[in-house]
Amino acid sequence: MSGKPTVEDSPMDTNLRPRRMTEFIGQNKVKENLLIAIDAAKKRGEALDHVLLYGPPGLGKTTLAHIIAAELGVETRVTSGPAIERTGDLAAILTNLKKHNVLFIDEIHRLSRAVEEILYPAMEDFALDIVIGKGPGARSLRLNLPPFTLVGATTRYALLSPPLRDRFGVVYHLDFYDKESIQIIVKRSAQILQIKVDPDALEEIASRARGTPRVANRLLKRVRDYAQVKAKGIGTKEVALEALGKLEIDPIGLDELDRKVLHTIIEKFNGGPVGLETIAAAISEEADTIMDVYEPYLLQLGFLERTPRGRMATRLAYKHLGITYNKDKTNQQGLF
Ligand SMILES: Nc1ncnc2c1ncn2[C@@H]1O[C@H](COP(=O)(O)OP(=O)(O)OP(=O)(O)O)[C@@H](O)[C@H]1O
Ligand SMILES: [Mg+2]
Repeated sequence: MSGKPTVEDSPMDTNLRPRRMTEFIGQNKVKENLLIAIDAAKKRGEALDHVLLYGPPGLGKTTLAHIIAAELGVETRVTSGPAIERTGDLAAILTNLKKHNVLFIDEIHRLSRAVEEILYPAMEDFALDIVIGKGPGARSLRLNLPPFTLVGATTRYALLSPPLRDRFGVVYHLDFYDKESIQIIVKRSAQILQIKVDPDALEEIASRARGTPRVANRLLKRVRDYAQVKAKGIGTKEVALEALGKLEIDPIGLDELDRKVLHTIIEKFNGGPVGLETIAAAISEEADTIMDVYEPYLLQLGFLERTPRGRMATRLAYKHLGITYNKDKTNQQGLF
């Protein structure tokens, strides 16, 4: 139940993905600021400032990148950090851009250093520096590029090099959606997919969606499947609860792995602090996955705390799992 994309998401995503800002639900501050910036850039007849979008998977970064281009009325080129292997790949993309186009680089934290260095003058001066020849006879040539807007997306702001970060005009952090927004999103998706689901079933889906539109859409689809097979296609609350129960997601959206992380910290490491790598090893999961996909939501719930010495399970986490919180034990470690 992570926010990470899976194969089954993709055909559905194309239908459900909002195309314009008016269809994009929630994230109101980001939306407002973006619309003002877009409007201003259009009025000045300039390219929009470079935009960096960051936040956990499934919150709408890719969606927003496409919406930005649609609102600007320009074409988008789409690529990603790992896809640009050599500097020549990026040079080819840059020289093919047209005036005011949007270049969307997903997973921008995964660009190699050499490729990043091509990007600096391109972002700053709309210029491409090419070195011709080798050794003492090498010459540098500067090619002008059309003004363009780079939209970068990342789940890991911290991994972006400071010079790259500094070249973005604006940085927007997408946070988990509140329950009302998620409810509107599920309702909208149900309408688009023409699924018959009762309002209280939609509510159950929304409360388990971990504030993540992608998860909300995925749960909705599971309820639809279940309803089709077991309940003549009618998604009542009971049907939804049964379908969601089969997925072993608890009422606040935690799945088996979330619980495993918390249980491990509490039971094996006395509530922490314990390093992320140690937790990862204990549950045979990759540290990166825990950090990108699971941890953000547990932090948001206040179940997990990050300390300089590692992760700690909070009193709320104990309570949620029904484990007695032994304060004295933690006191001895001088933590509270
Ligand atoms: N604000 C929104 N309103 C309605 N639906 C949304 C919204 N944001 C995202 N979605 C839905 O969630 C899906 C996932 O969004 P998107 O692919 O943009 O996430 P992402 O942040 O790019 O994720 P990743 O980090 O995995 O690339 C979209 O296909 C879309 O259907
Ligand atoms: Mg994306």
